[in-house]
Amino acid sequence: MNLILLGPPGAGKGTQAARIARKFGLAHLSSGDILRAEVRQNSDLGRQAQSYMNAGTLVPDGLILDMMARHMEKPDAARGFLLDGFPRTVAQAEGLDHKVEALGRRIDTAIHMMVADAELEARLTGRRSCPNCNAIFHVASRPPKKEGVCDQCGAALVQRPDDRAEVVRTRLQTYHAQTGPLVAYYRGRGVLADVNGSAAPDQVTAAIEALCGSPA
Ligand code: AP5
Repeated sequence: MNLILLGPPGAGKGTQAARIARKFGLAHLSSGDILRAEVRQNSDLGRQAQSYMNAGTLVPDGLILDMMARHMEKPDAARGFLLDGFPRTVAQAEGLDHKVEALGRRIDTAIHMMVADAELEARLTGRRSCPNCNAIFHVASRPPKKEGVCDQCGAALVQRPDDRAEVVRTRLQTYHAQTGPLVAYYRGRGVLADVNGSAAPDQVTAAIEALCGSPA
């Protein structure tokens, strides 16, 4: 099974992807997590991507397509993958179509997580992230057991530079202008499924699991 999680910044893609990938044995391929790891390693790609990420705009399509293709070819993705944050433009979606065809696979479902902008701003400005294991928390709705410390691995939690209020607004505008058209793209291919991302996290998980059927 190969899935796409499509939705605005803060819709809960990372939160749900970790759960769904674990349950269905899929490789969780988060373009944002992969880019942040490249930035931490100070790689060529990381250095090229950093200024776009800090500004809340999109990293160029060519860089993203090469990066995600490399991850889709890895052995741990052979059983299926869950794409989180990719594709984000029509050019990326077309590039993904070519890659998936070359691998002899198909996209089964593009899950569209819908949340209103005002709620997204509150979620993102209160988010705290683990730079070590990518676990996700929120100061109000999902605080860690010990303030500032990851429950899963004990690393110090951080606020992402792009979760500052002024960058969040740019990210939301970028989403509506450049990623919004993918809803029609995947609806036209008959693989789009809408999910209410404003519900409680466990309810969102249940809705996505119902779309995916039973684990193989
Ligand atoms: P990326 O890391 O992909 O960020 P994003 O898409 O903006 O998504 P987020 O990680 O911010 O949110 P999420 O939907 O995963 O929500 P989460 O589960 O954390 O991208 C970052 C940057 O990298 C981009 O701006 C761009 O520069 C670059 N980039 C990445 N991919 C790219 C691509 N394909 N092309 C070009 N550039 C690319 O949840 C958010 C908060 O809400 C958390 O605190 C969580 O606890 C809380 N929460 C989650 N679910 C719920 C719920 N149901 N109810 C209440 N609270 C909830």
